[in-house]
Amino acid sequence: MGTESDGRMAWWREARFGMFIHWGVYAVPCGTWEGRQVPGLGEWIMRNGRIPIEEYEKLAGRFNPVQFDADAWVRLAKRAGMRYLVITSKHHDGFCMFRSASNPYNIVDRTPFGRDPMAELAEACARHGLKLCFYYSQSQDWHAPGGAGHWEEARDVRDWHSYPGRPEAFARYLEEVVKPNLVELLTQYGPIGLIWFDTPVCITPGQSIELRDLVHRLQPDCIVSGRVGNDVGDYGSMGDNQIPVGRVEGDWETPATLNDTWGFKSYDHNWKSVDKLLYLLVDLASKGVNYLLNVGPTAEGLIPEPSVRLLEAIGEWMDVNEEAIRGTQASPYPHEFEWGRLTRKGKRLYLLVTRWPGEPLVLRGLRSEVSGAALLAAPDARIAVHQLHDTADDFHEVKLHLPAEAPDARVSVVRLDLEEEVDVDEAPQQQADGTIVLPAHMAAREGTVTLGRSGITERWKDTGSALRWTFRLRRPGAYRVCVYTAASRQQEWRGGHEVRFTVGDTSVVDALREDGRSDSPRAQYFPEVISHLGVLDLPAAGAVEAVLRADAMAAEVSAGLQVSEVRLLPEVAS
Ligand code: GLC
Repeated sequence: MGTESDGRMAWWREARFGMFIHWGVYAVPCGTWEGRQVPGLGEWIMRNGRIPIEEYEKLAGRFNPVQFDADAWVRLAKRAGMRYLVITSKHHDGFCMFRSASNPYNIVDRTPFGRDPMAELAEACARHGLKLCFYYSQSQDWHAPGGAGHWEEARDVRDWHSYPGRPEAFARYLEEVVKPNLVELLTQYGPIGLIWFDTPVCITPGQSIELRDLVHRLQPDCIVSGRVGNDVGDYGSMGDNQIPVGRVEGDWETPATLNDTWGFKSYDHNWKSVDKLLYLLVDLASKGVNYLLNVGPTAEGLIPEPSVRLLEAIGEWMDVNEEAIRGTQASPYPHEFEWGRLTRKGKRLYLLVTRWPGEPLVLRGLRSEVSGAALLAAPDARIAVHQLHDTADDFHEVKLHLPAEAPDARVSVVRLDLEEEVDVDEAPQQQADGTIVLPAHMAAREGTVTLGRSGITERWKDTGSALRWTFRLRRPGAYRVCVYTAASRQQEWRGGHEVRFTVGDTSVVDALREDGRSDSPRAQYFPEVISHLGVLDLPAAGAVEAVLRADAMAAEVSAGLQVSEVRLLPEVAS
């Protein structure tokens, strides 16, 4: 990525945390159509409920969010520690939530409300120093002729999501609807932080580039999201609620929900806990990923009360710990730690501790000299630091003598000041508690297996594929081998593959079955299953090479073997 892109990305990299807002006329039915609860996402009710255009259009006449208060929304985002706000200016339903001279199907002309919420948000954002950004559905438009998934054209197509549409009609729609809309969005509201395009569907590389260039021409500092399609955006977008297993390179963002929908649904009460949300915030920051957390306001214009409470709780934590998130870079280690996560800022490391040890916290692999340690929540507490360097063996360990009680019940932050630039041993290594974690993204791959962008294996459908790691063992002994596998998106986990883990000439092999579930933050959206393969004896300390392969594939599991990591847990002698 060039320097031009670096320049426009600077504020975004610094921000780390933003608010997503899904708001449109779909808030009126809020998940129910003709007395029936429509499954799926709230903003998808037109499609999932098969609501004809003429019927859906009438919702605009009932949309009168008189309680909308732009200032209150922006203050809430700021209170939570968010630095940018991405609001749906036009979602797949094709309804423009902004004043549009080019598209009569818009909030100002078609609703009793008659106001332009984007203008009000632009003012509030400017007042409070947040970046205003627009979500814009460039490909899917179920209302405008030519848009992907257009109701009439896709009526009889079952798999309408991959429905190609008619290329000429789509091209005309881009000219007549999308481009004029983008001109309005980028000239009516002052500086815009980014345009969050979505679901590229049928857009061609040339068309993605045209949209990107149009945005940059109108506002050179405006960022273009990866979902403009064909890998031409300024940064990458993970899948919805997709949390990577380890550190990622480059600029990435994860959009995530507070419950199970983006657009408001009156009966979706599956709210995440504050613990989980904070865990995700630190998890994503440690991996170098921005967190775009969604709220779905009601048709009255209110952010639901449970969302407000959750965001305020995040804000309380940020009051004390913000410096460990804002303006930080990813952890110097590519992998996670059992006790929590790390972020860095210059010569500082932040240890975001989610499992307070109750004994010294041990960080292995840090070669740089530590000059001091402090708790962000209790700056006066003394933390003794003992650092050990065995340079012959390249073994390094820092012991932090923390207070017995965690200063924050959820995530406590320890700041480490270093004498010199951060230098760590990035290889997987045995942690002080004896555990050895071998993530798939840190393995050498053989055969057809590839790695998905979140770090989970893909295309592992035969016995010729393998993952291979080298790690340093310090404590010889017996280890329980646990394989972590993910379910395909939105599908039940299925076991059955026969998997073998080998070290030297010994191995353990078993069919995958569910022995437990991971409680990692990523598993709250896409479950991850733990399977025990057996106990393996590792007799000698030093460098160990380990291989994971499949002896037999369960043919009925079409997604193949989706491994996130293998864990070796020391067996406690009885
Ligand atoms: C999706 C959905 C959409 C939602 C978005 C959020 O792609 O189609 O409804 O706006 O993800 O990331």
